[in-house]
Amino acid sequence: KVTVVGGAGNVGATVARSIANRELADVVIIDIADSKAQGIALDILQACPVEGSDTRLVGGSDYALSAGSDVVVITSGVPRKPGMSRDDLLAVNYKIMQDVTANVMKYSPDAIIIVVANPLDAMAQAVHKLSGLPRERVIGMAGVLDSARMRAFIATELNVSVENVHAFVLGGHGDTMVPLPRYSTVAGIPITELLPAERIAAICERTANGGAEITKLVGTSAWYAPGQSSARMVEAILKDKKLIEPCSVYLQGEYGVSGQFLGVPVKLGARGVEQVIEITLTPDEKAALDKSAAAVKELTTVIGV
Ligand code: NAI
Ligand code: 2OP
Repeated sequence: KVTVVGGAGNVGATVARSIANRELADVVIIDIADSKAQGIALDILQACPVEGSDTRLVGGSDYALSAGSDVVVITSGVPRKPGMSRDDLLAVNYKIMQDVTANVMKYSPDAIIIVVANPLDAMAQAVHKLSGLPRERVIGMAGVLDSARMRAFIATELNVSVENVHAFVLGGHGDTMVPLPRYSTVAGIPITELLPAERIAAICERTANGGAEITKLVGTSAWYAPGQSSARMVEAILKDKKLIEPCSVYLQGEYGVSGQFLGVPVKLGARGVEQVIEITLTPDEKAALDKSAAAVKELTTVIGV
C-alpha cells in the first residue's frame, strides 16, 4: 500500500498514476483538497481497466484511509513560480511537513517515507527529524530526477538511446547541484571521451537549471519527470531491487559530511536506503559537493532542523 500525500497536486497525481499503471501497489491519495483527492483517485481508477491494472485507489483528506502504508510519498507543498528559487518555499513548506509528518507517523509508523516537497534536502531533513525515523527510512527524491534530465540532454546531444546513458548528479537539489561528467557514461564510455569540454559544461549547466527552465515555460514547476522519478524509487523499494540511484539521505561522515541531508549514490531496497555508496571525487568535485552541502545547511539552520 502506497500513500501519496499531496496526491491531488501535479507531482502527486503523477506518482499515483505511475504506480497504478504499473500495478505496483494499492494507492491512497491524501490531500487537504478533499474532493479533488477523491476525484483524482477515481479518475486514475477508471484508467486502470484500460491499462489492465488491478490497483485499487481511494482518495480524501482523512489519513485513516492511509493506515498501514508501506511507503508514503510526500509531495504536499507549494511549488515555485517563475523567478522563485526552491529556497523561497522554505517556511511555508516546513509548516506543511510538520502537519503531514505527524499524521503519517500516527497512521503508518512502519512506512518508508519519500520526500519530494522543496526545498528538497531541507524538507527531507525536517521529516527525518520530526518523524524520529532511522535514516534508512526517510529519503529525498531529487537525484533520480536531476540525473534523468542529464541523461535526456546527453542522449539528445549524441543522438543515442537514453537506455545507453547513465548520469550522476550529486549534492543538494538546487543551483549548487553537482553533475559528475566523469561518472556519466554512454554504453559504459565516460562522456568526457565523447564530447568536448564546452558541450559537457553546457549539459551540466542545463541540468542544474532544468527545473527553472520548465518553470519559466509552463508557469509552475515540472511534474511528469518528478512524478516518474518518485515512482521509480517506490518501485525499487517495493520490489527490493537494490537499485543504485542518487538520493538525498542523512549523511553520517560519508563524503566528509555529517548530520545533514545531501544527494549521494545509495542502494534502494526493501529496507529503504540499504547502503550509501562512496565514490572517489577529484578535489574540484569534492569542493563543489562541500559548497552544495553548505547551501543545504544554511536552509536547515533557518528552520532549526
Ligand atoms: P501542487 O500545488 O500541484 O500540489 C501540491 C498539493 O499539496 C496540492 O494539491 C495541495 O492541496 C496539497 N497540500 C498542501 N498542503 C497540504 C497539507 N498540509 N496536507 C496535505 N496536502 C497538502 O504542487 P506540485 O507541482 O505537485 O509540487 C509539489 C511539491 O513538490 C512542491 O513543493 C514542489 O516544489 C516540489 N517538487 C519537487 C521536486 C523534486 O525534485 N524534489 C520536483 C518537482 C516539484
Ligand atoms: C524541479 O526540479 C522545481 O524541484 C523542481 O523541477
